[in-house]
Amino acid sequence: MSPMLTAGIDHVGLTVPDLDQAVATVQGLLDGGLCYIEGPIQEPEPGWMAKKLGATRATSLRVAAMNVGGANLELFEYRVKNGSRECRAAGRENGFALLIESPDMAKLSARLAEVPHKSWKWGGGDVLVKTASGLRLLIRKAAEDRLTPMVFLGTGEFEVLVPDFLTLFEMKEVRRITALGAVGVVLRGHAGANLAVLKANQDPVRPANSEPGGHHVAFHADDVDAAASRLSKAGYRPFGEPETIADGPIAGDRWVYLGSPTGLQLELIHMPDGNLPYEAAAGACRSPIRKGM
Ligand SMILES: [Fe+2]
Repeated sequence: MSPMLTAGIDHVGLTVPDLDQAVATVQGLLDGGLCYIEGPIQEPEPGWMAKKLGATRATSLRVAAMNVGGANLELFEYRVKNGSRECRAAGRENGFALLIESPDMAKLSARLAEVPHKSWKWGGGDVLVKTASGLRLLIRKAAEDRLTPMVFLGTGEFEVLVPDFLTLFEMKEVRRITALGAVGVVLRGHAGANLAVLKANQDPVRPANSEPGGHHVAFHADDVDAAASRLSKAGYRPFGEPETIADGPIAGDRWVYLGSPTGLQLELIHMPDGNLPYEAAAGACRSPIRKGM
């Protein structure tokens, strides 16, 4: 049997308009632990962020990694050349949301009262929340606390990507899901976090990775280079060559972004959890991909 290309979801990434505000929201509302915060990181050469990250106009970024109930979440804030925040498309994005399930809706409501937001009631008691910090949350009463990232795919996109996720990316269906009027599946790899993939009723607005609402789904690969090479033959376009981060809180991380055939942005990553510089002083650590599958 050939080795697995990818072992499961390592993290999801979301670009927000204000990183500090978003970190505070995830901490206060969702009990998220801050693993590290880094930046501003300037692009090493003109055009690097466009080529390697799928940025449009941005030339610098700050990034925070958070552990939210065992799921790894990356939050990004990009800035353009004059130092102002990248803010295009803010408020229109509907391709990504976090499903927050909890048995204690009263506690969530009390916490939500402390966070600037707008909310809308949906059927079944669901509440859609958009925080001023750029998070789009669907809050649902359930038997236990659980966070599930959700990506919404457009016409034809679902039929292309879900079969690929089940075969090329070797994920399995955990359960069916309905959210915000869309139906889909919750998928999981041999390790890592769950990911809900839903068939949207209308094509989602998918901002560029550098714009608020921009998002990516990162798969762990033991061999990032081999996985990128194989997936490129299946229509998944690597954003240049894989790179290994040389210094900073996650020195040793090898990664490359990957454009899916339909436009959803992916990443292949090998993060050496347990040997990362940030871990010595961090209040929280990433959930590592657990092997033994
Ligand atoms: Fe990422």
